[in-house]
This record gives sequence, C-alpha cells and structure tokens, in this order.
Amino acid sequence: MQVVIATHNKGKLAEISRILAPLGIQAITADGLSDPEENGKTFAENAFIKASAACRETGLPAIADDSGLCVDALGGEPGVYTARYAPVGQRKATVLKKLEGLPRSERTARFTAAVCCVFPDGRVITAEGSCEGYIGTACRGEGGFGYDPIFEIEDGRTFAEIADGEKDAMSHRGKALRQLKEKLQAELEK
Ligand code: IMP
Repeated sequence: MQVVIATHNKGKLAEISRILAPLGIQAITADGLSDPEENGKTFAENAFIKASAACRETGLPAIADDSGLCVDALGGEPGVYTARYAPVGQRKATVLKKLEGLPRSERTARFTAAVCCVFPDGRVITAEGSCEGYIGTACRGEGGFGYDPIFEIEDGRTFAEIADGEKDAMSHRGKALRQLKEKLQAELEK
C-alpha cells in the first residue's frame, strides 16, 4: 500500500518510515505538497489537519505526526508551539535559558506525539504517545533532530546520544506509531 507521509521534517520522516516499514507500507514523501495552517489547539487536531490535507491533495492515504515538547517549569510550553517557539537555530537555547539555575528535579518535561492516518474514503485512525524526561543544561549528542540534544532520559543521556532503535523503543513517536501500526493492520485486514 502506498501511503503519503505528510511531513517536510527529515528527522520525523526517517523515524516514521523505519517504524512502519514492517507493515509493507511504501512511504511517499510530501515533496511539493502544501503546508496547511496548523491552527489546532491540540497535537491531535494538528495531526488531523496535516493528514487530511495531504490525503485530499494526493488521493492517497496519508499519515501525519504533530508533536512537541512540554516543559513543566514553563507551564507546559512550548507545547503545540514547539516548532515556532523561537527563530530557527535559537529554539534549544531559548528553552535552556528559561530554565537556567533550576535543579534537575525541576527540569521535568515530556515529548508528546499525535499521529493520524486519513484514508480517501474518510476513515480516520489516530494514536498518541508520550515520553517523560528532563531538560539538560547544555546541548549534547549528534544524533536525532530538533530538541533531542537537550532532552535527557532517566540515566542522563540525551535523545541525541542514544541509538535510533533505542529512541524508537521509548519515544513518544515510537509509542504512538506502534499503536497506529496495530490499528492500521486491523483496518487493512477487514
Ligand atoms: P511539528 O512539525 O509542528 O509537529 O513540530 C514539532 C516540533 O517538535 C519541531 O520543532 C520538532 O523539532 C520538535 N520535535 C518533535 N518530536 C521531536 C523529537 O523526537 N525530537 C526532537 N524534537 C522533536
């Protein structure tokens, strides 16, 4: 089955493609597709907006992810505004600056991902996942993407310092996509 992965984010595309690969899904990238306005109030609303727009434009089933970082000491910010929190290149530094001086116990945060698959006949499948961690005090690691270098797991390593498979096993996106994969499998077997 051909499915459009409705994202222009290469990091997300790599993770979505490798987690859904066992389903025999042929991932089509979203090159050339328009960027709908993400004006939803929740990750789930934005995932639906992106998946339904890509499905409408291509006539193919489309999967989208909307995700972000929620920092407890910032009242849950940046949340749904994670991608627009500060100018490109200053996002991680902005979060680090706002938490300056706080001990680890007050640097708790979580990544959340909502994923959505929209079919041309109107069927919609959704799933969500989250991953608890801490905001570090500096960027560390070369792997991953986005805020990975400042997101620490329990043992102190950041998401950018662990192997892809280890991130997938515990990440917000990994959890959401494994749930979506099961629901998709059931749908395709109907
Ligand atoms: P979206 O593309 O509107 O969903 O924005 C997601 C934002 O959250 C982007 O700024 C991403 O860099 C960030 N983000 C989402 N998931 C991850 C992740 O797994 N690691 C690092 N940053 C992430």
